[in-house]
Amino acid sequence: PQVCWLAPEQTAGKQKPYMYTQGQAVLNRSFFPCFDTPSVKCTYSATVTVPDGFTAVMSAMNWEKQKDNTFIFKMSQPIPSYLIALAVGDIMSADVGPRSCVWAEPCLIEAAKKEYDGVIEEFLVVGEKLFGPYVWGRYDILFMPPSFPFGGMENPCLTFVTPCLLAGDRSLVDVIIHEISHSWFGNLVTNATWGEFWLNEGFTMYAQRRISTEVYGSAYTCLEAATGRALLRQHMDNTGEDHPLNKLRVVIEPEFSLVLGVNPDDTYNETPYEKGYCFVSYLAHLVGDQSKFDAFLQAYVNRFKFQSITADDTLGFFLEYFPELREKGVDSIPGFEFDCWLNMPGWPPYLPDLSPGEQLMKPADELAELWAADSLNMEAIEAVDITAWRTYQLVYFLDQVLQKSPLPEGNVERLSKMYPKISKAQNAELRLRWCHIILKNNLEAEYSKVKDFLHSQGKQKYTLPLYRAMWGGSESARALAMETFSATAPQLHINVQNYVKKILGLE
Ligand code: BES
Ligand code: ZN
Repeated sequence: PQVCWLAPEQTAGKQKPYMYTQGQAVLNRSFFPCFDTPSVKCTYSATVTVPDGFTAVMSAMNWEKQKDNTFIFKMSQPIPSYLIALAVGDIMSADVGPRSCVWAEPCLIEAAKKEYDGVIEEFLVVGEKLFGPYVWGRYDILFMPPSFPFGGMENPCLTFVTPCLLAGDRSLVDVIIHEISHSWFGNLVTNATWGEFWLNEGFTMYAQRRISTEVYGSAYTCLEAATGRALLRQHMDNTGEDHPLNKLRVVIEPEFSLVLGVNPDDTYNETPYEKGYCFVSYLAHLVGDQSKFDAFLQAYVNRFKFQSITADDTLGFFLEYFPELREKGVDSIPGFEFDCWLNMPGWPPYLPDLSPGEQLMKPADELAELWAADSLNMEAIEAVDITAWRTYQLVYFLDQVLQKSPLPEGNVERLSKMYPKISKAQNAELRLRWCHIILKNNLEAEYSKVKDFLHSQGKQKYTLPLYRAMWGGSESARALAMETFSATAPQLHINVQNYVKKILGLE
């Protein structure tokens, strides 16, 4: 399942085939022989020969092209197996910073350069200021074919990203900040087992939002965090708060051999990200001083860099670093015990304060309220000018509309006509929400938008929720799901294909 071979039609240029690998979580064992666990780290080198007209790239610090279409790669820092990645295609590069370039197919390279020219370096510099030296040499970005199943994958030196990020206005740059944050949390300090995946993703969400706060301010960052919290709410509503995967520490290999284990890929959901973010925010709240907590994070990276650790190591170091907190017994405050954070499923006991985002959220809340009314107050609606709203403000607005859906008869049609910026959006995050609204309100006239969106890309976090919504909807929504899946299945990553089959009861 690890090596993906794409036909020319599955690429942006549609001229030449493409291949790429995706290691996380446990797929690299089908790529090369390895100790395929995040608890083992090693350096690697690779020699890759490709046909004429192709270029190979890898997650490596040194890249050298020889005359005969052979590329030599060397990664001189120890990394876990899941971070070894290779892509081969008709790709080229363009510089976007002193240690960064974008890689993309020729037909996308201009858009790729425009999206991130001159912005990457600032994120790296802020990251280094907060968390310590960037040890990976270069930070490059590879734009993948549309079927790439993730928003981004933090392969060291070379982040792989979905082409959906090419929004034309840098509005989805939080994904890049997220993958950059893995340079410290995940790639340097690594979860020793996939049962503690939250150590990678929860700390990375926290680091992402620290960088974002420094660069864009707390209002914008809190707004983005609020959309993350909405995703966690939806996820817990869908799965039930008590679901065993809604613990930060997941039991991958049960003690009793009669009980089936968990495939680490199945733990990819909002809990490690957003509940993990809440736990790290809770630790910061206990410290009570942002600069002291920042200093702790830097000391933490320095203490455990190039190692693989468990949450016990993290929390042990936290209490060692702040002895006054240990003496106060902060690890066992009733209701907030570290043990409960790790081992109890359910909604986080502590939520960070997102009120700095209120100035951006409130107008969106109010507008959603207006659109949910039985008889629409068009005067009040027309008084709100959304043309200047940022993408995440629109995303937040649509999340509120979705929560209130189905809206009274006719409202969504009017909303659609009134805001072509939303209903005809090209931005993937907006399209995802609009598709959800179409399905929840059963707007059959707009089904083609759901179909088009699912044909245009194969990101797991977009694809599965939409199939779940279709399958939970009307007869015609179910038919749309079947029709769309039979047309797009061959393009989807094999993992995504299998998850959709499960949703549609095909397996
Ligand atoms: N490492 C993950 C992607 C991943 C997780 C791949 C689990 C395989 C198994 C990556 O860093 C990630 O979290 N990507 C997010 C970005 C978002 C949180 C900003 C994504 O793809 O949506
Ligand atoms: Zn991540």
